[in-house]
Amino acid sequence: MTQSDSRRRILLTGSAGRIGTAYRIHAADAYSFRLVDLRPTADAGEHECHVADLADLETTRALCEGIDTVVHMAADPRTWADFYDDLLGPNFKATYNIFRAAKDAGCRRVVFASSVNAVFGYPADRQVRTYDAPMPGNVYGASKAFGESLGAYFGLREGLSTLCIRIGAVGDLSHIVGDTPVDVRSIFVTLRDLCHLLDRCIETPDIDYMIVHGVSNNQHSWLDLNDTRSRLGYNPVDDAFNPERSAS
Ligand SMILES: NC(=O)c1ccc[n+]([C@@H]2O[C@H](COP(=O)([O-])OP(=O)(O)OC[C@H]3O[C@@H](n4cnc5c(N)ncnc54)[C@H](O)[C@@H]3O)[C@@H](O)[C@H]2O)c1
Repeated sequence: MTQSDSRRRILLTGSAGRIGTAYRIHAADAYSFRLVDLRPTADAGEHECHVADLADLETTRALCEGIDTVVHMAADPRTWADFYDDLLGPNFKATYNIFRAAKDAGCRRVVFASSVNAVFGYPADRQVRTYDAPMPGNVYGASKAFGESLGAYFGLREGLSTLCIRIGAVGDLSHIVGDTPVDVRSIFVTLRDLCHLLDRCIETPDIDYMIVHGVSNNQHSWLDLNDTRSRLGYNPVDDAFNPERSAS
């Protein structure tokens, strides 16, 4: 970053992970990134890079200094993860630390990676709306419900703009194991559409708190996309029901 760099300063957590890697490559020119992960982030280019554990509050405070928007991807994403052994640090402490530190550092916004697992407790034949309360299908989903809940508190009570993305099943459809309670095609999202949604979550002004749905333009969608499209200008192009538009 140069002295005259006027790009938004983004703290991207989980930058060595699957979605973090796709997003920092997608937005490498648009933003000035501070990247952080438990493991080294390869090919960071001009961007500032840290290896750190966000379960430590003081570390997280230092990382949030001078940041415009935090895109919080770091977590244990395994749906079978154990509360004490796996989730307590990455999904609970680190998530609280990000909101607390971002607010205290004067950041403009947090974009939190929630998950469709936060609502997998709803019946498979009932489309889920963004305003439906969390109904987790597993303890991992409950950790994402915790993040949505913290986002509502910080967004509406502490004035820290927050968007929570209930991310669907990411990636290459042929590699996604069919262990979801709904047709996996109805919650599918490509990295291309997800990166576009992240752009819109960072750039759309005047939002205190909002839950949005992170799925592609699937012909049948278990997660309703109406207000995500209309409020953010989200315009996904891929469709798990169309073989020509279902590659990640
Ligand atoms: N991949 C999916 O299908 C999917 C679906 C819904 C939601 N999500 C959510 O999206 C986010 C990114 O998912 P992903 O697929 O890229 O996961 P990933 O496991 O590939 O990446 C997560 C990264 O977070 C890092 N991390 C974990 N704990 C950390 C800590 N305490 N401090 C710093 N870094 C830490 C890990 O080292 C890892 O590189 C996660 O929050 C996940 O729960 C993913």
